[in-house]
Amino acid sequence: MRKPMVAGNWKMNGSLALVNDMGRALAGVDCSAVDVLVCPPFPYIGPLRRAVPDESGVALGGQDVSRYDSGAYTGEVAGAMLAEMGCRHVIVGHSERRAMHAETDEVVVDKVQAALRAGLTPIVCVGETLEARDAGETEQVVGRQLDAVLDLGGFVVEKLVLAYEPVWAIGTGRTASPEQAQAVHAFIRQRTADALGDELAQRFPILYGGSVKPGNARELFGCADVDGGLIGGASLDPDGFLEIISAARP
Ligand code: PGA
Repeated sequence: MRKPMVAGNWKMNGSLALVNDMGRALAGVDCSAVDVLVCPPFPYIGPLRRAVPDESGVALGGQDVSRYDSGAYTGEVAGAMLAEMGCRHVIVGHSERRAMHAETDEVVVDKVQAALRAGLTPIVCVGETLEARDAGETEQVVGRQLDAVLDLGGFVVEKLVLAYEPVWAIGTGRTASPEQAQAVHAFIRQRTADALGDELAQRFPILYGGSVKPGNARELFGCADVDGGLIGGASLDPDGFLEIISAARP
């Protein structure tokens, strides 16, 4: 039985005021049936950790990690730094990083390994553009992005969380239908089973991301292979985020 996860990705949004509001909202949240994760911008990780202490059960994560462990990489943040600030997870290969920072599958794989060296759980994002979907190439694109990670082998893949985020549904208000999401999630699970065995594939958490809101979360999370969500815009509203967490409770 896979435990659902709801992860908030603030992207480059938020403020100290939001840190405090979110801290108050999440103070008493019940994480026994749903793993709750918040990924704020780097400067807010420390303040958010103080506002939502580790004992609350709420996990914190970074939105990106350097592929290197330390050194002359101005502007980069190392996995060990995230871990030291109280993070347990990090988002890797988000489509905005793939598109705007030229992150290739090779870079994504390096970042996965850097995160694991620091003891962090990478949340690896995959997803097709609208052009690829319209050209009937969804499985080709998602399969290529997934294979880069599966090639690392079962002992690595069993430490990951995957997030399917169709690029055309991110921040657009256009959500994948539950049928569209389930079809790609089932494809990901089957391909994982083919590569690394059914047992690992059944344990592999696969989140859906792309315009998840309180109004559509329950239906999406009800799909057999959808194990929760990676939430962008709607994770900036503390009350709405709590509703989405409730929608993930089995
Ligand atoms: P969205 O973003 O919920 O605002 O569509 C999701 C994401 O990019 O992780």
